[in-house]
Amino acid sequence: MTTDFGVKIAPSILSADFARLGDHIRLVEDGGADIVHVDVMDGQFVPNITIGPPVVAAIRKITSLPLDCHLMVDQPERFIDDFADAGANMISVHPEATIHLHRTLAAIRGRDALAGVVLNPSTPLSSIEEVLGSIDYVLVMSVNPGFGGQKFIEHSLDKVRRLRSMIALRGYQIAIEIDGGIGMGNAGVVAEAGAELLVAGSAIFGDPDPKGAVGRLRRAALASFAA
Ligand code: DX5
Ligand code: ZN
Repeated sequence: MTTDFGVKIAPSILSADFARLGDHIRLVEDGGADIVHVDVMDGQFVPNITIGPPVVAAIRKITSLPLDCHLMVDQPERFIDDFADAGANMISVHPEATIHLHRTLAAIRGRDALAGVVLNPSTPLSSIEEVLGSIDYVLVMSVNPGFGGQKFIEHSLDKVRRLRSMIALRGYQIAIEIDGGIGMGNAGVVAEAGAELLVAGSAIFGDPDPKGAVGRLRRAALASFAA
């Protein structure tokens, strides 16, 4: 994979029907999804438990889309090899969860996956200053992580803008991903602010037509550039 993302839509399977996961992934793939976003929660770093490497390995068998594993777990360095072995193409970690962030990011890249750092709503941009040369993308959380279906935190827009200029000023090729409360109503403004990868769970899988929702979300994001 390269980091030339453009505007890409990454459905979060957290809001899919886990009993019909394969069907749901095929639906969004048919709808033109670019990436499958996988929310990994350990019940410790965040107050919820979801899925792990065996599920990622199962998904790997049914789709060729890049698998974007968002690790909301303590000490994620323990699991990098497991997720890479399972077929993850992108792995992101929260700086609060890993003491040696630089080493963890190197481990991700060492497995030929794209390395991402995730910023919680309260985590400042300064926390990634020293690792800008070690990452391929930054995931800006626009809700507090742990659950799907939460309301978008408006302050995230300003954060994306500041992050965009920080990256440009330093001359890095780093993509910005945004996650939490993204839907038809705000896809345009977040894309305009500089987010290139839009994660959406409930806006896609909560829609009666998840396949069509992928295209609608993309059009909403791109409409901001046409104006
Ligand atoms: C939240 C997860 C998100 C979640 C987004 O902790 O990181 O990926 O699935 O869900 P929506 O799009 O419903 O806010
Ligand atoms: Zn996520």
